[in-house]
Formats: sequence, C-alpha cells, structure tokens
Amino acid sequence: MADDSSDFGHVPVLLDRCVELLTPALTRHAVDGSGAVLLDATLGAGGHAERFLTDLPGLRLIGLDRDPNALEIARARLARFADRITLVHTRYDGLAAALAESGCGAVESVDGMLFDLGVSSMQLDRAERGFAYAQDAPLDMRMDPESPLTAADILNTYDQAALADILHRYGEERFARRIAAQIVRRRARAPFTSTAELVALLYQAIPAPARRTGGHPAKRTFQALRIAVNDELNSLGAAIPAGLDALAVGGRMVVLAYQSLEDRIVKRLFADAVASRTPVDLPVELPGHEPRFRSLTHGAERADAAEVERNPRSAAVRLRAVQRVQQSTGKGDA
Ligand SMILES: C[S@@+](CC[C@H](N)C(=O)[O-])C[C@H]1O[C@@H](n2cnc3c(N)ncnc32)[C@H](O)[C@@H]1O
Repeated sequence: MADDSSDFGHVPVLLDRCVELLTPALTRHAVDGSGAVLLDATLGAGGHAERFLTDLPGLRLIGLDRDPNALEIARARLARFADRITLVHTRYDGLAAALAESGCGAVESVDGMLFDLGVSSMQLDRAERGFAYAQDAPLDMRMDPESPLTAADILNTYDQAALADILHRYGEERFARRIAAQIVRRRARAPFTSTAELVALLYQAIPAPARRTGGHPAKRTFQALRIAVNDELNSLGAAIPAGLDALAVGGRMVVLAYQSLEDRIVKRLFADAVASRTPVDLPVELPGHEPRFRSLTHGAERADAAEVERNPRSAAVRLRAVQRVQQSTGKGDA
C-alpha cells in the first residue's frame, strides 16, 4: 500500500517494507500488538508511526525527535492515538533515558525500533532553517533550534584546518582545503550570514570542470555543515548500540540511511552485532558466545523504481535490519 500523505509535508520511505520487517516482532505476543512497544527514534511527521498505530490497535509507540516542530506536527497527526503514544523531545542517543522516562526499561524491553535518518521534507522546505542550498536563508541548519551551534558559527569562527577537516570528512569534498582557504579569506571582509553568500563562494572555489560533473557544487559542503552542526555521526554511533541494548529477544531494528557516511556506521555496528564472540580459531561455537543478533537483510535494500518516481527522496535510501536472537550476558555486550 502506497502512502502519499504528503499533506503532512513528508512521504514515508519504504513504508511497506518497514511494516513487513517490524510486524512479526510487534505481534509475536498478540496479533493486534497488545503489550508491544515500538520506538520510533526519528518520528518526523509521524508517517511511519501512523501506519503502525493504525494497523496494530494494541501497539504502544514511543516517538523521539530532536526537532520540536516535528513533534508538534506528529502530535497533531497522531492525536487520535493519544492514549497509546509518548512523544519525547530528545536526540536519539538519549533513547535510554527517554525509555526510562516513559516507564519502559532501557535493557531488552522494546519490540521494534525504527531509525529513519536525516532531515525531513518539512525541514528542507522551511527555507528559514537554512538546510537547502537552493533557497537563500540564514546559515542556521540546526535540527533543534535550541541547540547552541549554527552553520554561521562554524563558518565564521572555526580555523582553516578545522573547516577543511569538516568538509573533507563529512562532505567527502575533494576541494575541501581550497574551499576552507576561501572561506577564511572571505570572512575577513565580513562574516557570513546567508546561504546565498556561501553558495556564491562555492561556485568560485570549485573549478568549472568539477562543477559540471560533481553534482551541485554546494551539495557536499551543505551536507558537511549539517552533520557538524547537528553532531549527526556521533549521535548515530551512540544511538545504535543503545538501541540494540534496548531490544527484547525477538525484537527487531530497522534503519533507513540516506548518505554513505551514516550507512557505513550502521553497516559496521550491525556486522559487529551479528558476529559470533567465539574466537575465530575454535572449530565449534563456545556456549554463551553465540551471536546476539541476526541479519534480516542481505546487504542494503533500496527503493524500487516506482517508489523513486513517486517520491524522489527515496532514491538515496539504504535499509538494513537486525533481530535480537539471544539475551545479552551483561549490559553493553549487545
Ligand atoms: C526523515 S525524518 C523522519 C520521517 C518519519 N519517518 C515520517 O515518516 O514522517 C527524520 C527526522 O529525524 C529527526 N532527527 C534527525 N537526527 C536526529 C537525532 N540525532 N535525534 C533525534 N531526532 C533526529 C529529524 O529532526 C527529522 O524530523
């Protein structure tokens, strides 16, 4: 079933596949999901959440988002399920505390977990938030408007080496050093205030042949700044292990990543989770050292052509999923 509920500003990606992967975990005790908990770590407009709450009338949902505006939109959309939902304003690496606050344990207590990473269409569409290089806006890029660091702060205060490092590591930008040098030269005249000023600089800094072949010249720099402003990779690197710790035996986690840096983190943490703890040189599995998780996907799954045509945002998605098969012996060894 396709969901084109774009009146909420964001069309959920790979919705049917998320339902197919998570439903067995959410219905293993009762067909209507009674007694089961789904943690939506990136609630956004609540598109995925709405589908699960509709399909499973006994399900309880805990929804997290660091963007208070997203929580407001989701709260309105999910109002008819108010008695079954708990919405928490937090970064997803605070999921253990959010679970505890919601009266749910942070260890082996959750049946399903969904991470639909990155920015939402509502965040991109609201020009004043500064995420989109196509629209002139203040250099903000904070997902949580209460967090202290903006893109302008980084551009106007970080030294040249730190700027080059951010552009190289988080944007995989070939011309990182050259761009960083031009940023420092340009800001000596006047500090950066708008996205258009940065885009104009990038057109000058990136050589013409690379501009013709490498996608929009601002794409990689905007991605890098957004990741740095929101500390996205550290947040994800801490959230996935905490999420795995929180999954009950039989519980499942699905992650949708839209850029390779995030997908690499998910791939590595999942590979570690499904690995055996038995030393490689032993011929048999040592009791207590079996893998705690099994993979539900082979490599990363992509959206099909029909979905990409309906929802271009799905073109970049990579979905990975795992299921807990064994209890942990102690905290932190998930
Ligand atoms: C792609 S949208 C989710 C869309 C949602 N699945 C839907 O169907 O409406 C991603 C959401 O995750 C939130 N987000 C991104 N990074 C986060 C983090 N570290 N902690 C909590 N929320 C985060 C964003 O604010 C955004 O609202």
